[in-house]
Amino acid sequence: MNSFGKIFRLSIFGESHGPGVGIIIDGCPAGLPITIADFADDINRRRSGAKGTTPRKETDLPAIMSGVFNNHTTGAPVMIMFGNSNTRSRDYSGLKEIPRPGHADFIAMKKYGGYQDYRGGGHFSGRLTIGLVAAGVIAKKLIAPVIIETHIMEIGGHKNSKVAIEKALEKKDSVGGIIECRAVNMPFGLGEPFFDSVESVLSHMIFSIPAIKGIEFGAGFAAAKMKGSEHNDKLISVNGKTDSNYSGGINGGITNGNDLVFKVAVKPTSSIQMKQRTLNTVTGKMTNLEIDGRHDTCIALRMPPVIEAATAIVLTDLMIQAGLIARVRKKHR
Ligand SMILES: Cc1cc2nc3c(=O)[nH]c(=O)nc-3n(C[C@H](O)[C@H](O)[C@H](O)COP(=O)(O)O)c2cc1C
Repeated sequence: MNSFGKIFRLSIFGESHGPGVGIIIDGCPAGLPITIADFADDINRRRSGAKGTTPRKETDLPAIMSGVFNNHTTGAPVMIMFGNSNTRSRDYSGLKEIPRPGHADFIAMKKYGGYQDYRGGGHFSGRLTIGLVAAGVIAKKLIAPVIIETHIMEIGGHKNSKVAIEKALEKKDSVGGIIECRAVNMPFGLGEPFFDSVESVLSHMIFSIPAIKGIEFGAGFAAAKMKGSEHNDKLISVNGKTDSNYSGGINGGITNGNDLVFKVAVKPTSSIQMKQRTLNTVTGKMTNLEIDGRHDTCIALRMPPVIEAATAIVLTDLMIQAGLIARVRKKHR
């Protein structure tokens, strides 16, 4: 549903054009130093403004409603809210009749019998990922010295993202992208065989992010074309270091002490300005759709801090389960 995690457990809430969005984190250890300023970097990295992102501008100021006192976590649930102010709901009034191809409008109408908040994609909106980013700021602090880095590998199939975005804007179309994520200084032994393998838990979290359509660990799909003699990562030290990392830092579902490496595929934004043929669900006839709202031409541009947050959240939960984050207070005093 809308909760994730075993001990470091998140509940995500809100709608794109409702009063606000946010996150509740249960199981956050007490004593972690945290201030509003800590959220600024990652929130700014997720913010729109760059060419190819939505003109919708929000203040994105976190309001900590619970769980932090005297600039430290208290051990009570941490609730962080972000108000919505820059909404233009009239842009979405037609979508009840003519749902956007590729978006969740039609399926939400069917599943919730028309009661869903359709404005700006409602609960399906990428706006909700700001709550994940906020939880990620806390998680990143908890997992130190593990550090998570991302980089955009390609946009619309091109290494040169600017060119791909220019072309998409010119054609009133959209583009997707591929992002690589790497966690360094990884501890040995996180995860369990079978259902709680690190790949399983991370994929569960990553696919919760709207617009993600693929994930591959290490060599991923390319492994199918490799020989065992190429793909086998050879041990070069008793602490588990290997001379290559085609397994992406995981063997048997368990972290092996090498960098955790995976790539995600982000789809092209479904809301495009180009005229599209689609169904009017009231008349039952095909019709033209021209989307008015403000949209990202390329969602992948805003995705890196979201992927980092999702990864940090999963690692936090796994590290707490492994007893590696029990001593926050001592560590930070
Ligand atoms: C940061 C972010 C920004 C997004 N911006 C848009 C947008 O401007 N327009 C849009 O149609 N979808 C946008 N999306 C994607 C939709 O939320 C998503 O496509 C929709 O909920 C359907 O889910 P699915 O693509 O996973 O099937 C965004 C997603 C994220 C994570």
